[in-house]
Amino acid sequence: MKRSEPAIRVSIARKVFPAIADRPQHVVLDGVELTVERGSFVVLTGPSGCGKSTMLNIVAGLDDDYQGTVSFGKDTGKLSFMFQTPRLLPWRTVEENVLLVLDDDGPDAKARVAAILSRVGLSEAANAYPERLSVGMQRRAALARAFVIEPDVLLMDEPFVSLDDPSADSLRALLIELWNRRPTTVLFVTHDRIEAVMLATRLIRLGGNPASIVQDSGVDLSPDERLDREKVLAWRGRLFENA
Ligand SMILES: Nc1ncnc2c1ncn2[C@@H]1O[C@H](COP(=O)(O)OP(=O)(O)OP(=O)(O)O)[C@@H](O)[C@H]1O
Ligand SMILES: [Mg+2]
Repeated sequence: MKRSEPAIRVSIARKVFPAIADRPQHVVLDGVELTVERGSFVVLTGPSGCGKSTMLNIVAGLDDDYQGTVSFGKDTGKLSFMFQTPRLLPWRTVEENVLLVLDDDGPDAKARVAAILSRVGLSEAANAYPERLSVGMQRRAALARAFVIEPDVLLMDEPFVSLDDPSADSLRALLIELWNRRPTTVLFVTHDRIEAVMLATRLIRLGGNPASIVQDSGVDLSPDERLDREKVLAWRGRLFENA
């Protein structure tokens, strides 16, 4: 069988932040080569400040000041991005915030929004404004917004950071469910090792200064096993034993 075309090819020869005032120039990434297969859930991890967000921003096209190339496969045109903060518009309701990313606001679009809000447990909050929601609910709304366009590629930068453990766990379970229902290619940044193991089908670790890929490992867990603490802890030990 012919192998399908990769979803994303990343080749960053060098990423340098130029000198500003008394700060010297900073070479952040050096020789980062990554090919992402379609439908894989790639978690990018590594120490704080090593360049994870810098790499994700380059892949997202938010930063084009680097040496190298990023290309997407033919069938990977629709991209969603989820950031550390939910970035909901405060003057729009939850439903309107999600509807905004669709091309139209007709009955079909509204039905899609209702379906995804139901899936993330926000049906009753559809007409609420973001300030009335808990932080966990705001992240659910952001997750609904990311998934409603049925993205081919989903880029996520620590989307569950600074939540309490139960809220973060329930969002991770929700993400696993959404991803299983409609596998999409995900590039997910986190420095939380448990979260990394729970979500990843492939774990990439950045390290060094400037950073490059120092580890590239598969994570072979079933959806149910991903919610099993003992299994996840065992994999964490195995994957990070040399970290
Ligand atoms: N606009 C910028 N100008 C100069 N230096 C920057 C800029 N943005 C990031 N950096 C530096 O580049 C390095 C990598 O930053 P980046 O935000 O990618 O790290 P990170 O791995 O995402 O860290 P964290 O886990 O804390 O989010 C850091 O040393 C940071 O200070
Ligand atoms: Mg970051």
